[in-house]
Amino acid sequence: MEKYVYEFSEGNRDLKDLLGGKGANLAEMTNIGLPVPPGFTITTDACRIYMKTNKLPPELRVQVTMQLRRLEDALGRLLGDTNDPLLVSVRSGAKFSMPGMMETVLNVGLNDASVEGLATFAGDARFAWDSYRRLIQMFGKTVLGIDGEKFSDALDARKKARGVATDTELTADDLHALVDEFKAIVKGETGREFPQQPREQLDLAIEAVFDSWNTDRARLYRRRERISDDLGTAVNVVAMVFGNLGDDSGTGVCFTRDPSTGMVGDYGDYLPNAQGEDVGAGIRNTLALADFEKLDKKAFDELRQAMRTLESHYRDLCDIEFTVERGKLWMLQTRVGKRTAAAAFRIAH
Ligand SMILES: Nc1ncnc2c1ncn2[C@@H]1O[C@H](COP(=O)(O)OP(=O)(O)OP(=O)(O)O)[C@@H](O)[C@H]1O
Ligand SMILES: [Mg+2]
Repeated sequence: MEKYVYEFSEGNRDLKDLLGGKGANLAEMTNIGLPVPPGFTITTDACRIYMKTNKLPPELRVQVTMQLRRLEDALGRLLGDTNDPLLVSVRSGAKFSMPGMMETVLNVGLNDASVEGLATFAGDARFAWDSYRRLIQMFGKTVLGIDGEKFSDALDARKKARGVATDTELTADDLHALVDEFKAIVKGETGREFPQQPREQLDLAIEAVFDSWNTDRARLYRRRERISDDLGTAVNVVAMVFGNLGDDSGTGVCFTRDPSTGMVGDYGDYLPNAQGEDVGAGIRNTLALADFEKLDKKAFDELRQAMRTLESHYRDLCDIEFTVERGKLWMLQTRVGKRTAAAAFRIAH
């Protein structure tokens, strides 16, 4: 039987054709002992079959089920369980980097019941409702094709009504109310309720990531970058780690060398109490790594150690995404190369 699903420990950096750049490097980081949340990659082969036949290969479902079970066993948690749920991200990742061109859905597995379990287990209701509103927002836009502004306008309206400037000032009750509003948007726009079944959420998100290979935006980008339309993307399913669990958590991006001069060092940005996509979105001011060091020396030292490990392993500029969950560092991506990283860094500064 064709193998369409690879656990991170089964891959490596030379498998970019099959696992995409993100998947291959997540596997490589896992295998050199860096703290990567566990997960698996669905191959570009599966994507190519999907594009040709308009259907997922029939074996894929079973293989995802088996791999998901291994993940659940390893973590001792079940996807979307009502009690301490496992949540996952579903992330695109093609052979060649296409920064921000394709889709990702975070917090898959949350629903009306598991949000309560998450709140109880984390001892933080605000965090749980924040995560749920993010899921509905991303899922609504990416999977259900709803105009993203419908959600961001509702979020802005709530901030205005509460007289606050940033998301982090919204309370658990505000975010709970926002979830109800977001669910009403989904119902109004699609005629259907927001899907509550965790596995249905996962399957729909996987298909949506495959579909995102063929958006106009992605096609245009590939034409400009001379990347073949035939390659397809892989899909990475990664256990969620949370940067939005309060002030001892956060998320950031960094580089192992100065992107403009190539000098080895620590460069990057960190945003406390935030989830992945907030950093690039510019919704709040980020901290320089030097300030991150002052804020959380232990997590910063772990990050610097990981940066040195990557630098000596790849011997090139590594562009890194990381998250700190209650003081613990997690590595979420590395990309080797200069151009995109340098461009991103110059834009940010
Ligand atoms: N399991 C996870 N736990 C916490 N954060 C995550 C997880 N998976 C992804 N993220 C974060 O969510 C954001 C979006 O993810 P992702 O890397 O897939 O897409 P992107 O960075 O927008 O685009 P690109 O495809 O260029 O990487 C990133 O900041 C990433 O670090
Ligand atoms: Mg990324």
